[in-house]
Amino acid sequence: MPWATDATSGLVLRPPRMSDEDQLRAGHAELVQEGFPYLFHPELPWGEQLDLVDREARGVDLPPGRVRGDYLVAQLGPDLVGRVSVRHALTPLLLEIGGHVGYAVRPAFRGRGLATAMLRSSVHRLAGLGVTEVLVTCDDDNPASAAVIERCGGVLEDVRRFADEAPAKRRYWIRST
Ligand SMILES: CC(C)(COP(=O)(O)OP(=O)(O)OC[C@H]1O[C@@H](n2cnc3c(N)ncnc32)[C@H](O)[C@@H]1OP(=O)(O)O)[C@@H](O)C(=O)NCCC(=O)NCCS
Repeated sequence: MPWATDATSGLVLRPPRMSDEDQLRAGHAELVQEGFPYLFHPELPWGEQLDLVDREARGVDLPPGRVRGDYLVAQLGPDLVGRVSVRHALTPLLLEIGGHVGYAVRPAFRGRGLATAMLRSSVHRLAGLGVTEVLVTCDDDNPASAAVIERCGGVLEDVRRFADEAPAKRRYWIRST
């Protein structure tokens, strides 16, 4: 079942399936080179990863410090072009650094508005859950991600520097009402 469809780009966001393993592992291998956690538990067998995603989506048996959230693949035709994580609430750490939404697009599919479509759909999803002020953060040296957030209506609150985190984080709020 698709979770969201973007009419303009044709992009579908949906939970991962058994048959997605090869493409998601390929995406992970690409993004890990950029230091981005595309899969959260690449070391686990695929079925266990899907179980974790399912439990987190249902908010069942969450480990300490994890909140309910959706891990969704972005599909364009036959290709899994990226992924998005939509967290339904903020912990103190997410409020400082991580935000409600995290996303990545595989290098071959960048520059055609897909991340913008993914973030827009995610904000819409959160609005449906009652989250109307959505925090999205990016590294201060990530102009592509800052452009995506700003295209989606993000208003910069501040740029925070953390002792053990470099570079600084740009923290934006997107209002969805
Ligand atoms: C950031 C990322 C998701 C963007 O994906 P994408 O599908 O290319 O994004 P879009 O095509 O929707 O938009 C990219 C925007 O960045 C702009 N952009 C791209 N490179 C840029 C650069 N070097 N400087 C300034 N703007 C840049 C584009 O012009 C576009 O803005 P526009 O729509 O206003 O023209 C992708 O580069 C990525 O996955 N990076 C690695 C993971 C990551 O950084 N994730 C975000 C974590 S906060």
